[in-house]
Amino acid sequence: DHPGLLDTFGRVATDLRVSLTDKCNLRCTYCMPAEGLDWLPGDQVLSDDELLRLLRIAVELLGVTDIRLTGGEPMLRQGLERIIAEVSALRPKPRLSMTTNGIGLAKRAEGLVAAGLDRINVSLDTIDRDTFARLTRRDRLRHVLEGLAAARDAGLSPVKVNAVLMRGVNDHEAVPLLRFCLDNGYHLRFIEQMPLDAQHGWDRGGMITAEDILGLLGTEFTLTPSEAPRGGAPAERWLVDGGPGDVGVIASVTRPFCSACERTRLTADGSIRSCLFSNEETDLRVLLRAGARDEEIAGAWRTAMWGKLAGHEINEAGFAQPIRPMSAIGG
Ligand code: GTP
Ligand code: 5AD
Ligand code: SF4
Repeated sequence: DHPGLLDTFGRVATDLRVSLTDKCNLRCTYCMPAEGLDWLPGDQVLSDDELLRLLRIAVELLGVTDIRLTGGEPMLRQGLERIIAEVSALRPKPRLSMTTNGIGLAKRAEGLVAAGLDRINVSLDTIDRDTFARLTRRDRLRHVLEGLAAARDAGLSPVKVNAVLMRGVNDHEAVPLLRFCLDNGYHLRFIEQMPLDAQHGWDRGGMITAEDILGLLGTEFTLTPSEAPRGGAPAERWLVDGGPGDVGVIASVTRPFCSACERTRLTADGSIRSCLFSNEETDLRVLLRAGARDEEIAGAWRTAMWGKLAGHEINEAGFAQPIRPMSAIGG
């Protein structure tokens, strides 16, 4: 009779990732084709009021303590600052973070902080202009760098940088990316690429593994495991040259962390996914629009999470990629 989002393996999901939109203004090759995707029809996307009601239920009835706003690109959502302000007013007050590509952040960082945003993670896979333009299919590196600086100056702390390395594309940039982040006070995490791209182009052989990443960094830096507790965090962290700077590696494929997973996910169209890699979703939008009471919605959410998988099966024979791509699930 746990009041929260418990599953059959004894995990409790206290961390909610919300996709605010499936749209994006970049076209990273590991995520989307150049022409974009078939975006969700507008009437299927939760309205602000519907979304805020679900977030209130999560916080007040289901014990969610951390909310991360994602996308697609969350800054493309109209009224983002108002959503943040309303979430900040919930009690108990959730910790509120956002994962963004950083485009437009330079102008909005202060307003986001004023609205109540606590932390930010910015995706940046390269600090080379040409590589950025090739990888994201947009020549906008400068906007991201300005956004990062603005986030730091606005007091968001920590500012994390997420980098996915790909063989022959940006794997020569591991060291320069880390230097750049250490110099600027950003917390860099390298991420193993997962089979979640819309084009189904992932292949295990092409993936840069955590071991590869540590090898690349080891040519220039001395890394020692960080003693800081990891909790349910996806990143394993290393102190760089004795600290205080550090670097994280998110080894979702080669060192899965599913047994400590604390996440529940809400898609932009109002479905609960208990795992990034499950194809089963629970549609809360229909319930909402049929006039369900808070307690019924909370019950459906609990049921959805009770059935959470032990973990992803990327490393098992017969693994099939989930139907929805990463950009529609919300990372
Ligand atoms: P914090 O550690 O709280 O800052 O956030 P985070 O690392 O969970 O969030 P972020 O959105 O920055 O995601 C970083 C990477 O972790 C992305 O590649 C995500 O897809 C990956 N990730 C996030 N949640 C999960 C998860 O539940 N399972 C797996 N395997 N990977 C995840
Ligand atoms: N595998 C791993 N990480 C990915 N991201 C996007 N697609 C993938 C993938 N297939 C990253 C983005 C962003 C974070 C939310 O997930 O770069 O930083
Ligand atoms: Fe959790 Fe699924 Fe991610 Fe594993 S893959 S950490 S179970 S959401």
